[in-house]
Amino acid sequence: GRVAVFMGGDSAEREVSLKSGKAVLAALVSAGVDAFALDVQGCLLKTVENPEFDRVFIALHGRGGEDGTLQAILSQAGIPYTGSEVMASSLAMDKLRTKYVFAGCGLPTPQFKTMSAAGEAEQIVQELRSPLSVKPSREGSSIGIRKVHTAVELAEAFEAAAALDSSVLVEEWIEGPEFTVSLLQDRALPAIGLSTDHVFYDYDAKYLADDTRYRIPCGLAPEDEARLQNLALEAFRVVGCRTWGRVDIMQDGDGEFWLLEVNTVPGMTDHSLVPMSAKAAGISFEELVVRILLDTLE
Ligand code: DAL
Ligand code: MG
Repeated sequence: GRVAVFMGGDSAEREVSLKSGKAVLAALVSAGVDAFALDVQGCLLKTVENPEFDRVFIALHGRGGEDGTLQAILSQAGIPYTGSEVMASSLAMDKLRTKYVFAGCGLPTPQFKTMSAAGEAEQIVQELRSPLSVKPSREGSSIGIRKVHTAVELAEAFEAAAALDSSVLVEEWIEGPEFTVSLLQDRALPAIGLSTDHVFYDYDAKYLADDTRYRIPCGLAPEDEARLQNLALEAFRVVGCRTWGRVDIMQDGDGEFWLLEVNTVPGMTDHSLVPMSAKAAGISFEELVVRILLDTLE
């Protein structure tokens, strides 16, 4: 059968997705798979009208492609696709509701509040311990995220986040280091430790800077890395994810780990983390992509 690599799309992460999609397509073609690129802009329903493919590799990031919308359309059309199904995709796209699930399952996640008006800033600053992280709930690649210290800064950051999403999340800032754990077919790959001279691992540090440092091996003692990997696997499972994903986790000064979020279509660009972890586990980029695709055959 023919595989369409869905990429691009309309979300704020369009440029990242084009890079992920091109890398995925090149790997599939080099593995001998009959695959082609489909830039999914505009109405998603059009993609399933007289499709010239019978399987989809989803390389779309953000709302529309990663949030369950596309997954529902493909399910309805009976077209197999890579990665998580509808519910897990929707849940993982929403950081606020993912944290409700983590909290409900007793998994560690930084203290948080939902914020619906700038006027709530004073109250929230009293209830949570500053500094705080302000995030649009359903955005990716750190777009719209700010670190704030005061109620005035929080009110401003709220407006910026609210311009991107009607749901805004405020959580206590954990200084880090930050770690990320990639999951492939129910197995945690080697963790990566991240450091940057930016305030945090933001969009520029992710895709543009050449001074972002990736530690793999991650520098933790083996038993701590195992604890980190188990936590990531647990997060992946409670959200209900399938085949692959990546869980972002902070470590505090006491060595405790705190879950931030789960990504169901993590970046696959040449700066990206899942390919880096796979490589450290002896899995080439090509093999990674083929394994993700083959899971749609079950
Ligand atoms: N949202 C970006 C693509 C990531 O998680 O890698
Ligand atoms: Mg994300």
